[in-house]
Amino acid sequence: MHARTRLQPEQLRSHRYLGSDDLRSFGHRSRQKQAGFSTDDFKDKPVIGILNTWNDLISCHAHFKQRVEDIKRGVWQAGGFPVEIPVMGLSETFMKPTSMYYRNLLAMEGEEVLRTYPIDAAVLMVGCDKTTPALLMGALSADVPSIVMPAGPMNRTAWHGAQLASGTDVWRFWAERGAGRLSCEAWCQLEDHIAASPGHCMTMGTASTMTALAEVMGMTLAGASSIPATHSGHARMASMTGRQAVELAWLNVKPSEIVNRTAFENAITTLMAIGGSTNAIVHLMAMAGRTGVKLTLEDFDLASQRTPVLANLRPAGKFVMADFFDAGGLNALLVQIADLLHLDAQTVEGQTLRAAMDGAEIWNDDVIRRRDNPICATGSLAVLRGNLAPDGCVIKPAAAEAELLQHRGPAAVFKDYPDLKSRIDDASLALTKEHVIVLQNAGPLGAPGIPEWGMLPIPKYLLEQGVRDMVRISDARMSGTSYGACVLHVSPESFVGGPLALVHDGDMITLDVAGRRLHLEISDEEMATRKAGWKAPTAKFTRGYGKLYLNETTQAHEGCDFRFLHADGSQDADPSIY
Ligand code: FES
Repeated sequence: MHARTRLQPEQLRSHRYLGSDDLRSFGHRSRQKQAGFSTDDFKDKPVIGILNTWNDLISCHAHFKQRVEDIKRGVWQAGGFPVEIPVMGLSETFMKPTSMYYRNLLAMEGEEVLRTYPIDAAVLMVGCDKTTPALLMGALSADVPSIVMPAGPMNRTAWHGAQLASGTDVWRFWAERGAGRLSCEAWCQLEDHIAASPGHCMTMGTASTMTALAEVMGMTLAGASSIPATHSGHARMASMTGRQAVELAWLNVKPSEIVNRTAFENAITTLMAIGGSTNAIVHLMAMAGRTGVKLTLEDFDLASQRTPVLANLRPAGKFVMADFFDAGGLNALLVQIADLLHLDAQTVEGQTLRAAMDGAEIWNDDVIRRRDNPICATGSLAVLRGNLAPDGCVIKPAAAEAELLQHRGPAAVFKDYPDLKSRIDDASLALTKEHVIVLQNAGPLGAPGIPEWGMLPIPKYLLEQGVRDMVRISDARMSGTSYGACVLHVSPESFVGGPLALVHDGDMITLDVAGRRLHLEISDEEMATRKAGWKAPTAKFTRGYGKLYLNETTQAHEGCDFRFLHADGSQDADPSIY
């Protein structure tokens, strides 16, 4: 591994806590003994902190109680001293207003835990959407040797003989229920089947996207992100991850040596090839901000224009993550786009990406398409600009009805989410498929937390007429499991007076994906007049974490991180000196 000198025990960071002959170290050792450990358990061994995002409400991580034991087994085998550290679990399903609102809080917790405790290397147990970017952001800022243990996707599941996909099919069946085509009983039966095992959502949603990107950025063992949560190989991967964490500690390989510009470019290219979640744009921006790497939305658009979509996975495609694993997994896909990747990029295994991919083969070329038979030749994601989104917005063309990618229609404006919920099915609005549904105040500060509301509901009466997609525009995000002609992350957001706040009912809007343009058809003078009359909405939170969030969170095109956590070259004192 990495041609570098192994640390001596006294050079380990934890030695300052446990190895010295002084009053503080006596306290630390005696308290380890209080917990039942002997001197031989920890003396001269690297301390491996296992940051566990398990809790009873984060069902995607239900197997983490066992997996943490698997990781510990690997750490002990390799001569390390494992310590489990529970950190905030971000449950995508339960957290309100949205788990994204708390991503930065977990990132801060992760960073501070790594900094304050005697940790020589860390295993980051992640999976459910925001846990992966959050702990990676924390590890990047702390710059303590770290390795990611991805949760793995949940099992395949079916209902009435048809394969189900968590997330994606919830939206689909909800639309069917809205259209009166699904009974109450059938809807209840779906509850028993839609999420049938531990593991993160089994589509190429945000969780699968972010764990795949963590892998291609070099932060997991090769092949780790594709292994289903309940496969026996997942337990073996967890144990090997623990062993590798010990190696990382002895070699003192820091995340800053792995997650550099090259790694981000590999991640962006892979995001396009897997047809990944739009959320990854926000998360990669935030992660880059922690490292000092400058990314722009154009980096994503350029990659989209040269990268084929090869993963035939829902929501844009046909299969689920268990099929992806059986078909060869992420590395088999990466082999197909090898010419678009930086193959000399380093991984936590001390090898290059080229070596990590070596020998990977496709076993089902409908699930993982070969280069000459892509799902689409280019265009996984598109970045749009225009007078409605001067700082950019995004759309996932592959997940939209093709005819809507070039569209002109009148706006139907909802001033916030409660307004949308209360009026969208009001038949007196007389919306048609041509209308453009606009949601305001759903962005990073307005919602707050830029929730996944961006797949705005289609009015029931249009669903009943068979309408399944419409152009929808908001400053919100969209779940990676969602689909439709949804323009997302409009920046600057309406809450801070962005042009989205100035749209009126009936204004004509042009969406031109090929031309990368989103245009509100009013004059500059009219826009200025409306802006002069615009009143800022009242902030929803005035104290505590909410106040910190509202004061410090950046816009979507900047990653929605806290400003004061961007890398600026400054370095805090290492608290182990105290
Ligand atoms: Fe956890 Fe989808 S709800 S990944």
